[in-house]
Amino acid sequence: DKGPYPYYMLKEIDEQPNVMRKLASLYTEESGKTNIDSNLINSLKQADRIYIVGAGTSYHAGLVGKKLFEKLAHVPTEVHIASEFAYENPLLSKKPFFIFLSQSGETADSREVLVNVNANDYESLTITNVENSTLFREATYTMLLHAGPEISVASTKAYTAQIAVEAILAKALGEAKEQVIAEEFDIRQQLGFVATGMQAIIDDKDEIEQLAKKYFVHANRAFYIGRGIDQTVSLEAALKLKEISYVQAEGFASGELKHGTIALIENGTPVIGIITQKRTANLTRSNLQETMSRGAATFTIVRKGLAQDDDTLIIPDVDELITPLLSVVPAQLIAYFTSLNKGLDVDRPRNLAKSVTVE
Ligand code: M6R
Repeated sequence: DKGPYPYYMLKEIDEQPNVMRKLASLYTEESGKTNIDSNLINSLKQADRIYIVGAGTSYHAGLVGKKLFEKLAHVPTEVHIASEFAYENPLLSKKPFFIFLSQSGETADSREVLVNVNANDYESLTITNVENSTLFREATYTMLLHAGPEISVASTKAYTAQIAVEAILAKALGEAKEQVIAEEFDIRQQLGFVATGMQAIIDDKDEIEQLAKKYFVHANRAFYIGRGIDQTVSLEAALKLKEISYVQAEGFASGELKHGTIALIENGTPVIGIITQKRTANLTRSNLQETMSRGAATFTIVRKGLAQDDDTLIIPDVDELITPLLSVVPAQLIAYFTSLNKGLDVDRPRNLAKSVTVE
């Protein structure tokens, strides 16, 4: 039931702060300790490499997961598009551990990989929103996203829930491996900050609606740019925009733009810089400047601690490792309002199904 909401997507965006609180209370204790199956942690501890597999938005959540597992737990991590992995047979390490990310738990491309993983007796974890789904049933271990049903074709709360679960898991694994950075990372407190921060962004949605009107309704092409973890969010931000508003959008590593793609910038092409990482903030700013001098209509999504006078959307500060949980929210809303302003069916974009059960 959509309740007072015109579309499920808006309802699901709005539910994100509560999902964050719920995950914090289910997977961590008041002391800040994580609360995760110890057998799962032991299996993960033995792995020399983690392989994350997913499609679409779940793949994008995996790209953030790689940063989390490598930084907090010091385990080399690869992220693979399910449909590519299934037939490419990438070279595996001696002790691989597989993590499947899937909102529905039914994506055929991911299932195909899991069938092979099981045939080779490798251990796996499925992180999904749907209990008893196929990927849930067939993996060695499971963790639920507890996000409640996601109806809109455009995935929103599943992305943030997947990242939150990955962050909790990476912390638990890092602690088990006595990594100081993991011990010092208070994920429970951070998820509390995230929930409050998400709410603040959602409460400001009128401003985002104005931006959507001004920049996107007449655009037929747009770019989100960023570096490192912000680049992974740019991919998700672009996917949201294209799938429901049909604006051709690309997420891009900001430093790579000038190696060819900048040729696509015309007068008025929207380019949005996502800036949440101190080390690369100025670099992304100058890349944004490069597009502006070629006519782009630029604006920024910036973490408060890095904000400057002329920034557009300022999002609250949280630990740099989990900024995607906040920086994606304005992008979800931009996609929502652009689709709405164009009079499209936000929840049911053309040519798409909620869950893709064919390879
Ligand atoms: O159910 P899954 O997470 O396995 O689905 C994967 C993709 O099909 C899904 O994320 C798709 O990309 C969404 N429409 C994105 O909003």
